[in-house]
Amino acid sequence: MSAEGCPVGAKVVEWFDHNSKAYVTERYDWFEKIREEVGPVFWSPNYGGFWVALDYAEVTDAARDWETFSSRPLGWQPPEGTDITYNGLFIPPRGARNMRPGEFPRSASRLLQEDPPDWNIARKAINPLFSATQAEKWRSRIQTIVDACIDRRIETGRIDIAKDITNILPPIFSLELAGVTSKNYAEIGEISHVSSHLPADDPEWDELNEIGRKVDLQGQIMEAIEARRNDRRGDVISTILNAIDAGAPYDDADVAGFTALIISAGIDTTSATLGTTFLNLMQHPRLIERLKAEPEITRYTFDEFLRIGAPTQGLCRTVVKDTVLGGQNLRRGDRIMLMWSAANRDAKEYPCPLEIDLDRRPTLQVGFGFGNHRCLGMHYARLEFETVFNTVLRRMPDLRIETEKVRQYDNCGIVMGYMSLPATFTPGPRLGVDAAIPGWRA
Ligand code: HEM
Repeated sequence: MSAEGCPVGAKVVEWFDHNSKAYVTERYDWFEKIREEVGPVFWSPNYGGFWVALDYAEVTDAARDWETFSSRPLGWQPPEGTDITYNGLFIPPRGARNMRPGEFPRSASRLLQEDPPDWNIARKAINPLFSATQAEKWRSRIQTIVDACIDRRIETGRIDIAKDITNILPPIFSLELAGVTSKNYAEIGEISHVSSHLPADDPEWDELNEIGRKVDLQGQIMEAIEARRNDRRGDVISTILNAIDAGAPYDDADVAGFTALIISAGIDTTSATLGTTFLNLMQHPRLIERLKAEPEITRYTFDEFLRIGAPTQGLCRTVVKDTVLGGQNLRRGDRIMLMWSAANRDAKEYPCPLEIDLDRRPTLQVGFGFGNHRCLGMHYARLEFETVFNTVLRRMPDLRIETEKVRQYDNCGIVMGYMSLPATFTPGPRLGVDAAIPGWRA
């Protein structure tokens, strides 16, 4: 370490803090400035110090090399002991205020925050539900939910795209996909949205925890497991129970953990992508005209919108072997943040990266991550995206977001999303769909 506590020879950017308010508004300028003046990998002294990889090549090199860059969680201990602290995907550790080392949910330590070979067992167990073909089976259900969301406002000419659609569809859908019939979709969505944006030491955690205790998602999941024990369906709980029957080494606590992970992983990420895309479309009316004229391309444009506005900013790894990345010497035990949102705008990978080019295909963007942990739910996210945009552009073709009233979360934490996206449009007719959503507030 140097005198200032930074690794000797490290390129240091002292002011880089992805949890700061300035990051929310200035991050893309920061990425370009750092790329140009410092390089693709640098050291931030904040939160005890960590590396940041910005460029596509370094981000993807690290993401594919799980033997050097581990996803294992805070408090993980190999049986033979270790001299380094594994620290999960978040800086600072997410939920530190209410979670002690070793208490990390088992879901996280079985899949998202696990390395091969145990990761392979988990992914194999859950994979059958996540193919494009399986996702397609949910098309009409997602359409019904979106139509019900729009029905509530269509006669008024006013809608809050975030509160009425983009922050509502993902929790309703994620719960149904999980196999949990819950009337608490609004509270569960709120917990996911707020906690994704909340610094670990924020006092608001106490309030969120209180809501969490009242909702008792864990209890609802355990009830759903009991109900599925002898009545399997096409949901997450049934899929894991089937995998256990086929020999997967899990118990009820694991089923509950997986289920909680799937519910939470698909909520704020999807909401944020939808919200960001609405704003991008408002700024580029020519894109709206194109999607209205060719709704069949919407699903293929998803990757381009996710490239330009990746909501999951960056996720971390623990370095478990000394290595060199982007010309910097990383040591065993260091932490590194793989900045998906920056890699997606790397001009070396994407010509004219700031331009939204609907014909940019194939786009191997990293908004879904890269390597073995690449997003499990991408086909469902794509289907939600396609359904929302094609339905909104059809039923509210002159929608205008009141951009001056938009409210963004003022701390990004992990995901960059929106609290409120008020909009106006010419009123239209209700379709009168009954989506049969438990707890639906009309
Ligand atoms: C646009 C929406 C979404 C975005 C931007 C997104 C983003 C991501 C990213 C960046 C990762 C990689 C994590 C890592 O490398 O450490 C990931 C993994 C994951 N995502 Fe998504 N996600 C989205 C939607 C969903 C949905 C809808 C679901 C579930 C229905 C889901 C479930 C998961 C799961 C379970 C993982 C862990 C996979 C593993 O570790 O093998 N995601 N996602």
